Amino acid sequence: MSDLAKLIQQKIATCGPITFAWFMKQALYHPQWGYYTSPGTKIGRTGDFYTAPTVNPLFGTMLANQLYQMWGAADRPAQWVVAEYGPGTGILARDIVVALCQDHPDLYAILDYYLIDISDTLKEVQQQNLAAGEPGASHKFHWVDKLAEIGPGYIENGCVLANELVDAFPVHLVRQSAGELQELYVGLSGGKGDNTFTLLPGQLSTLELAEYFSSQNVQLEEGQRAEVNLQAREWLAEVTAHLQRGYLLIIDYGATSEELYAPFRYDGTLRCFHKHQLVDNPLINLGGQDITAHVNFSTLITWGEQLELRKRELVTQPQFLINLGILDVLKKQPDYIQNPEFTKITSAIKQLVLPGGMGDIFKVLVQEKAVS
Ligand SMILES: C[S@@+](CC[C@H](N)C(=O)[O-])C[C@H]1O[C@@H](n2cnc3c(N)ncnc32)[C@H](O)[C@@H]1O
Repeated sequence: MSDLAKLIQQKIATCGPITFAWFMKQALYHPQWGYYTSPGTKIGRTGDFYTAPTVNPLFGTMLANQLYQMWGAADRPAQWVVAEYGPGTGILARDIVVALCQDHPDLYAILDYYLIDISDTLKEVQQQNLAAGEPGASHKFHWVDKLAEIGPGYIENGCVLANELVDAFPVHLVRQSAGELQELYVGLSGGKGDNTFTLLPGQLSTLELAEYFSSQNVQLEEGQRAEVNLQAREWLAEVTAHLQRGYLLIIDYGATSEELYAPFRYDGTLRCFHKHQLVDNPLINLGGQDITAHVNFSTLITWGEQLELRKRELVTQPQFLINLGILDVLKKQPDYIQNPEFTKITSAIKQLVLPGGMGDIFKVLVQEKAVS
C-alpha cells in the first residue's frame, strides 16, 4: 500500500469518511505524493494523456492570434500581461510566445507572460523547457504562486488563460436517492482486514451543493450520479479580483448544465487516465493516475457574471481554431506534396478539429472584464 493511501486511511480511521473532493485533492495535489506534485512524466506520449499543446505547436500559434485580437480589441494598451494557470510542461507558453515573436512583434515587445502552477515539480519542468526555448523568449516568462504576486494593480490589461485546468480541480460527488440529493464520501470497506476505499452515501457536506443544482434548474434522475466543481467558483473569484481589464480564456472538455446532467450521463463524467488508458476507478492507484471530470460551462458563465465577467463567447474548439485560421496554415505550406511538415500539420489539425479527436468535447469560453 502506498504512503498516500495509508495517510488517507488514517484520516478516515480517525475522522470518518471524507468528501470525494478532499480525497481527489490529496490524490492529485498532496505536496509529496500527489499525482501532479510528484516527479514523473504526466503529459504527452510517454505520460498518461495528451493535451492540445502536446499535439502540435499550431495550437499555441492559434492562441497567439487570439491574444493579438484581444489586445487589439482592448485598444492596444502599452503593457499586456498573459497569465497562464496550470501550464503543465510549459510548452503552450513557449509556442504562444514564439508565435507572437514571429507573427505579432508589436504585441511581443510589450508582453509579460506569467505562469502559475500548483505543482513545484511541474514548475521545474516549465523552467527547464522555457529556458531552452527560442532565443529572446525566456526573458518574457515569470513564475508566481498567485496573481496577487504580479504587483500593484495586478493585471491592469491582459488575459488569463487556462487549458485543461478546471477539469483537474477536485470535485464533490453526489447522487440522487429516494428523491433526495446525497453526497458520496470515501470510506473504508470495513470487512475484517479490508482497508480498501469505497464510496459511501451521506448527507451533503455543504448546502452549496443543493443550491448548485437548484440555481441551474437541474433535477437528477433517481440513482443518477454527478460531480460538482465548487473550486471553479473560488478560482473565478481569484481571477476577477486581480484582473482589472481584459479577458479570461478557458479551454477544456465539458458541456452546459443541461447536457452535463442529462439522464444519459447516468454515472457522471469522472474519469481517470493511466498510460493513455481510461480507468473507471478513482479509488485505486492513488497518486499514480490522473482524475478528472467534465467542466460545467454554464456555471462558469453564471458565476463569472456575478463577478463582473461578461460572457463573450462559448464555442467548440474546432470552431474556435477555424475562426483563428488553423485551416489557412495548410494553404501556406509550400510544395505540400514533398513537404513532410504538411503531413504532420494535417494530422495535427485532424486531431484538434475533427470529431473523433479532441474536436468532439472541447469547448472554449471567452469572458471579458471592463473592455467594451
Ligand atoms: C491537465 S494538466 C494541463 C496542463 C497544460 N495546461 C496542458 O494543457 O498541457 C493540469 C495542470 O493544472 C495544474 N493545476 C491544478 N490545479 C491548479 C491550481 N489550483 N492552480 C494552478 N495550477 C493548477 C496542474 O499542476 C497541471 O499543471
